[in-house]
Amino acid sequence: MYPHLFSEISVGGRVLKNRLTMAPLYLGYAEAGGTVSDLLLDHYRLMAKSGVAMVVVENSAVDYPAGSGSDRTIRADTDDNMEGLANLAATIKEQRALACLQINHAGRFAAIADPTLAPSAVQTFGRMPKALTEEEMRRIRRKFAEAAVRARKAGFDMVELHGGTGYLLSSFVSPRTNKRTDAYGGSLENRQRFPLEVVEEVKSAAGDFPVGYRFLADEWLTDGLQLAESVHHARSLASAGVAYISCMGGTYESFLLPHVLQSSRKEGYMVHLAAAVRKEVEVPVIAAGRIATGRLAESIVAEGKADLIGLARVLWADPEWPSKVREGRDDEIIHCHPDCDETCTKLVTRGKTAFCVRWPHDKIQEWKEKTGA
Ligand SMILES: Cc1cc2nc3c(=O)[nH]c(=O)nc-3n(C[C@H](O)[C@H](O)[C@H](O)COP(=O)(O)O)c2cc1C
Repeated sequence: MYPHLFSEISVGGRVLKNRLTMAPLYLGYAEAGGTVSDLLLDHYRLMAKSGVAMVVVENSAVDYPAGSGSDRTIRADTDDNMEGLANLAATIKEQRALACLQINHAGRFAAIADPTLAPSAVQTFGRMPKALTEEEMRRIRRKFAEAAVRARKAGFDMVELHGGTGYLLSSFVSPRTNKRTDAYGGSLENRQRFPLEVVEEVKSAAGDFPVGYRFLADEWLTDGLQLAESVHHARSLASAGVAYISCMGGTYESFLLPHVLQSSRKEGYMVHLAAAVRKEVEVPVIAAGRIATGRLAESIVAEGKADLIGLARVLWADPEWPSKVREGRDDEIIHCHPDCDETCTKLVTRGKTAFCVRWPHDKIQEWKEKTGA
C-alpha cells in the first residue's frame, strides 16, 4: 500500500529494512544514576518489535554530571555501564531492528551540573553557565569519542550526536547563546567549528561506524539559529561525513512559547525543516513531528521531503503503528493527541517516569503496578 515507506535504504553502509525509525524519546525509564533498568529494556524491546527499521535510543550522557540532562539520563560516559548498554543494544537487535545510541552533552541544560557549561556565559532560566575554555572543549570532544567507541563495543550499529534541543553542540551554532570572540564564535564558520570537530574526532576514534546527527534546523526564537543559516551548517555536517541528518526545531527556551505550542499541535509540524535541509545535502534526512498516519509518512518519502520518518511519541503511544500502517489499518491507530496537554513532557520535566494517557486502560494499570507510580 505504501511502497516508498516499506522500501529498503542504505544509511552509512547499513541496510534499513524500511523508512521507519524511532526518534529518540527520553521518558525517565533508566534507573536514577543512569543505569539500564528492566523498565528501559522492556520499553525498547517493544519499540524495536514494532517493525521500525532502526531504534535511536534517547540521549545518553557523554560526561557526568556536567553533560547529563537529568539523574535518569543513561550514562554513556563510563565502562561501568557497559553491560547495561550491551543488554540494551542486544534487546533492540533481537527484534530485527538496528540499534543506534544518541550521545549528548546537555551543556546549559544539564539539570544536575553546577555550574552548567556552555560556549558563553548567557543566562538560561536564571542559571548562569560557565563559558568553556579550549582545554575543556578538547576534553569534551574526547568524551564524545569515548562514548561512541563504548557504543560500538556494546554492540550498537550506529551513534547519533545530539545537535538539537539547545544542548551543548547546538548552543555553539546558535548566535543567541554563542557570544565568543575566539575562533569558535562570530561567523557561522566559527560557530559550527566545535560540532564539526566533535564529528571528526568521533569518526576517527570509532572507525568504520556510522555517525548520525540530530540537527537543530530552527530555534524558533527571533535572535536564534534559523533555517537560512542552518542549511549551510547541514551542508558542512554532510561534508564532514555524517551518516544522516535528523531534523528538529526548537529548544527548551522556545518549546513552551504559545505560538510554538500551537504550531506543534499540527500533523507533520517539522516536515518543512527536513524538506529544506534535504534540498541541500546528499545524505539521508529524517523528518519527525506528529507524523500521524501512513498516508502522511508515505507522501513525505514519495515527494522527496525526507528519506526516513522519525516516530517518537507517535510510536510510543501506539507501538503497532508500523504494522497497522503496513496492513492498511490506519484508522485503528491510537494517536498521540495534543489535547492531553503534553502529559509525557510534563512528567519527565518533573523528574518522573512517563506514561501515555492514550494507552488502553489495562496497559496504564500494568505500567503503574510495574513502576509503583
Ligand atoms: C518527552 C520527550 C522526550 C524527548 N527526548 C528526546 C531525546 O532524548 N533526544 C532527541 O533528540 N529528541 C527528543 N525528543 C524529541 C523527539 O525525538 C521528536 O523530535 C518530537 O517528539 C516530535 O516527534 P513525535 O511527534 O513523533 O513525538 C523528545 C520529545 C519528547 C516529547
